[in-house]
Amino acid sequence: MLPLNPKPVKLTNAPVVAPADLLAGLTPDVAAALGRATAIAARRRLGLWLIGGAVRDLLRGAALDRDIDLAVEGDAVDLAAALAEALGGRVLASHRAFGTATLGIPRAAAGSGELTLDLAGTRAEEYPQPAALPVVRPSDIADDLRRRDFSVNAIAVELLADAGTLRAGILRDPFGGRADLAAGRLRLLHPYSFRDDPTRLLRGLRLASRLDLRPDEATAAQIADALTRGYLRMLSPERALGEICLALDEPRPDAVLALADAWGVTPQVVPGLAWSAALAERFTRRRATEAWSAGGAIRGEPETTGGDRLAASGWRLATIDAGLLCYDLGADQLAEIAARYPLPTPFARLLQEIPAARAVARRLNADLRPSQIDLLLRPLSAAGIRVLHCAEIGSAGQIAARYLGEIRPARAPLDGRDIQRLGIAPGPNIGRLLDGLRAAHLDGEVTTRAQAEVWVQAQICS
Ligand code: CTP
Repeated sequence: MLPLNPKPVKLTNAPVVAPADLLAGLTPDVAAALGRATAIAARRRLGLWLIGGAVRDLLRGAALDRDIDLAVEGDAVDLAAALAEALGGRVLASHRAFGTATLGIPRAAAGSGELTLDLAGTRAEEYPQPAALPVVRPSDIADDLRRRDFSVNAIAVELLADAGTLRAGILRDPFGGRADLAAGRLRLLHPYSFRDDPTRLLRGLRLASRLDLRPDEATAAQIADALTRGYLRMLSPERALGEICLALDEPRPDAVLALADAWGVTPQVVPGLAWSAALAERFTRRRATEAWSAGGAIRGEPETTGGDRLAASGWRLATIDAGLLCYDLGADQLAEIAARYPLPTPFARLLQEIPAARAVARRLNADLRPSQIDLLLRPLSAAGIRVLHCAEIGSAGQIAARYLGEIRPARAPLDGRDIQRLGIAPGPNIGRLLDGLRAAHLDGEVTTRAQAEVWVQAQICS
């Protein structure tokens, strides 16, 4: 039988917020924005439902201050345009063919940015081909809930507004999502769910890991069946990569990855990779150094990604997680990953760097002078060094941290212009002197500006 969750199941029922109190979890500015949006929808006689992850999180008692999914009984694209105009917001994306629109509206508190609302007309879906996009047709809220992935995501609450003040109407939970949430159960709604959309397997992993859910018997069987049939391999690389990035972007990516191994998903997504105690240890070290990195150790890395998901979501940490995962892979396996997935630039660059980082790590030892460490580590990117730091136990890892914290930021007392002022003509000599001066400075032979000038003069005369 598939080992579905390495942790013991929690048999105690988790408390679930009562429907009447559900909207109390909205932050005041989100409640205000939704109140106004609901009043406008009502004037147009359009039913509006808060749906999906937002309802799930409110039921768990989590404060909701994030992108919000709304189901519209009617034309969501028209409503989005009307809301943008009435609320001083803007339509960020709109797809008439799919009946969906994303709206950005200013939050009530000035300077607190935009609230994003995803509006979609209530619909029924059919998947003519496995892993392909569905054919959709407008339908009612019941069908809209039926088309979803897991019971805990198939809950909707009707939004009503009295004089602009938001209140909850009917709560629809046709598949027992609240009970599943309370019991810690992950449950698919129908037997073809993974065949229709294999990303749901990866979504399920994230959800199970984040909320500590365990698949029920039927869902467990469907996971095993989906893996046997290789549905994940039918996904486009873009969609699979999008899900991998979301997993790396979770608060506990290591927990998702451990579960991916337990479910048997990993080999179908990243061949050659396996979760291990050593990997878990690396992630622990990565978390321990998070504050350090946020404090600027890797500041100054160029931000060159395009409009991909990583760029939108703190790609630096996600990139480092990816590097940690792949640190032990051979050059062939790394090349296979790069060939299979359309990797964002920093990600691809880091994977390319891994064999060099491993080779450098083997040469780092406690007897090296700072200038020698500098020569070894300088060719690597800060992200590569950060990965080396978290991946290597012992002196190599510690030296990498010292390099990022102390050695790399160190500046010699003179720069190129200062050296020219000492009478050296522009040219390769300046570069050589700068390198030598940096080494002497790092090794403590030269500390002041006066000493540096003497050092340069001595080099010219020798
Ligand atoms: N959904 C689905 N199948 C998918 C993707 C999404 O059924 N392949 C449904 C789920 O009901 C989900 C909702 O669409 O709750 C919104 O999707 P999304 O915003 O991607 O996920 P959330 O549930 O909001 O998850 P998260 O907390 O990770 O943002």
